[in-house]
Amino acid sequence: MPAELSPIDTAKFAAARRAVDLVQDGMKLGLGTGSTAAWMVRCLAERVREEGLRVQGVPTSTRTADLARALGIQVVTLDEAKWLDLTIDGADEFDADFNLIKGGGAALLQEKIVATASDRMVVIADAAKEVAHLGAFPLPVEVIPFGWQSTKMLIEETLEGMDVLGREVTLRLSGDAPLLTDEKNYILDLHLKRIGEPRQLGVALNQIAGVVENGLFIDICDTVVVGHGDGRVSLR
Ligand code: 5RP
Repeated sequence: MPAELSPIDTAKFAAARRAVDLVQDGMKLGLGTGSTAAWMVRCLAERVREEGLRVQGVPTSTRTADLARALGIQVVTLDEAKWLDLTIDGADEFDADFNLIKGGGAALLQEKIVATASDRMVVIADAAKEVAHLGAFPLPVEVIPFGWQSTKMLIEETLEGMDVLGREVTLRLSGDAPLLTDEKNYILDLHLKRIGEPRQLGVALNQIAGVVENGLFIDICDTVVVGHGDGRVSLR
């Protein structure tokens, strides 16, 4: 373990290192995005360097692509790899059914495409991400910039009929301008507080024309590796 890590980084590192143990020689891997996923990329690079492990990685963002390349991991596109053995990614929240909220790092679209093109998605997370009900973390929704304010109104209207506690929708900014995703779309954050029916909400949001994808990952993840501040790891 690197020296001098804070408890939260110790937890993220511990989860990442355990998940990287699942990687076998020759695998095609989805590489997630975020601070926990960055630990995974570093741990994977260490195995590539020290064990001569041969893997191909499909990054889920330009940030992850840059890090993986810089650390010597072979990076390929999803079109080159076509199908992946395993995706390892972080999450903003997960529940007992392995439903996730993702997109805190604005990479949810590539993350969902890559995870659903994989035999298996393993989530790595610190223990604070485990929740009884999703929704305390604002749900990110990627929308097309064209007509985004009308899309926002349609999302607000859709939320009226949903089992949620909050209904505020905000545009994510980078400085004074709308934050742009890797696909040059915007992110709307839905402040729902508690999501009663995540599956129903995910389906309803994706029926709105300007919505590209939402950050609810339902029936995609099959294992969560939870890291703790003292370096312990537990599997869900
Ligand atoms: C990026 C994501 C991340 O996986 C999520 O935000 C968790 O990030 P972190 O590991 O930094 O807490 O979904 O879009």
